[in-house]
Amino acid sequence: MSHFDYRDSELCCEQVSLRALATVVGTPAYVYSKAALLEGLAGYHRAFRDVPHVVCYSVKANSNLGVMSVLAKAGAGADIVSGGELYRALRAGISPKKIIFSGVGKSRDEMREALKAEILMFNVESRSELRVLDEVALEMGVRAPIALRVNPDVDPQTHPYIATGLKTSKFGIPHDEALAAYEDAAKMRGLEVVGADMHIGSQLTKATPVADAVARVVALVKALRERAIEIRMIDIGGGLGIRYRDETPPTHEEYATVLLPALREAGVTVLLEPGRSIAGNAGILLTRVLYRKDTGAKKFVVIDAAMNDLIRPSLYGAFHDILPVDEAGRARARETVDVVGPICESGDFLAKDRELAHVEQDDLLALMSAGAYGFAMASNYNTRPRAAEVLVDGNRYTIVRRRETYEDLVAGETPL
Ligand code: LLP
Repeated sequence: MSHFDYRDSELCCEQVSLRALATVVGTPAYVYSKAALLEGLAGYHRAFRDVPHVVCYSVKANSNLGVMSVLAKAGAGADIVSGGELYRALRAGISPKKIIFSGVGKSRDEMREALKAEILMFNVESRSELRVLDEVALEMGVRAPIALRVNPDVDPQTHPYIATGLKTSKFGIPHDEALAAYEDAAKMRGLEVVGADMHIGSQLTKATPVADAVARVVALVKALRERAIEIRMIDIGGGLGIRYRDETPPTHEEYATVLLPALREAGVTVLLEPGRSIAGNAGILLTRVLYRKDTGAKKFVVIDAAMNDLIRPSLYGAFHDILPVDEAGRARARETVDVVGPICESGDFLAKDRELAHVEQDDLLALMSAGAYGFAMASNYNTRPRAAEVLVDGNRYTIVRRRETYEDLVAGETPL
């Protein structure tokens, strides 16, 4: 069931009217459904219930403390990629024992912070990183629990910017070098080899490439055991896709059914790093139409949200459905328009050549499926304050991030 639906002719998030919210918090604003977030997380817990597992929510998708604390209370861990994300995860109440640190460029300071917090595991992405982590851990007199991120060289069949498991990508250690790298790691006194890790890409709409990659990682784990290197955890990464338009990604159950046989056989704790499939369809970007404009060659709808608020259409050519908040708007005549923001770039669009029911100045619109990689990728370009974020729970809401002020925007700067 969708948590964004029409009730009494108005689009609502759970039981809260988006029109009413716009009046209180203004636009643009991100609106999240708590029930949808919890449902996304519960889908994984249910599908993987037969094996020991930890769902390490990928913080980069949506790192709002309100969102993360809801997930933390429901048992989520975190997949982090920076010291900043570690800070947020701990502030949101996520247990360090459920935090894994991924990423291709961890600094020494970030390593120290994570070792101090005693996180579950570091996913190491190169042999040079292994050496540095070993040094840092020895300096601190501790051992860093590690997995190597293996690049399994499979084609995830997704947008090239978010495919990470191909040989040509910057991520991970090539599959055929992994064994030797593990043997090095096992000899380093500052490290403790505990896991194996992979992540092949994002917005995956087929489970088969993930299953192929898992098979490669499980084969590696067996080879390591023959060399007395015991792997207790396999991190299968994130990446499960969502429906933006007409995609048909696997359900949690379908995903688990394909992956579980090999993982069960390996006898490991399964770690997962989902982001988009938890937060993506749990959020929308609420915006108001500022102007209409017809240049003769094209019709434009100018809205108060822009590429600084939601960059996915500009950056990836991504599709986000657009719904009128007033249900009556759906019955109006259809027309083809570009939906654009106020930013001074032609690349600033939220939808291009989109067939929409006619919209009028001052109409409220919802840009759907914006809960993941929406606010998290927002910027202050054109000195635009970042939008407010609201979390809805039934018939109540909380402003989990207030709209930025002009003062926020210049804080930390020094005029000379
Ligand atoms: N783990 C690792 C190591 C990752 O790099 C990512 C995403 C995830 C987990 C979570 O993947 P998810 O479950 O969300 O697909 N900005 C892009 C997506 C970039 C994904 C980067 N890594 C977008 O808006 O589509």
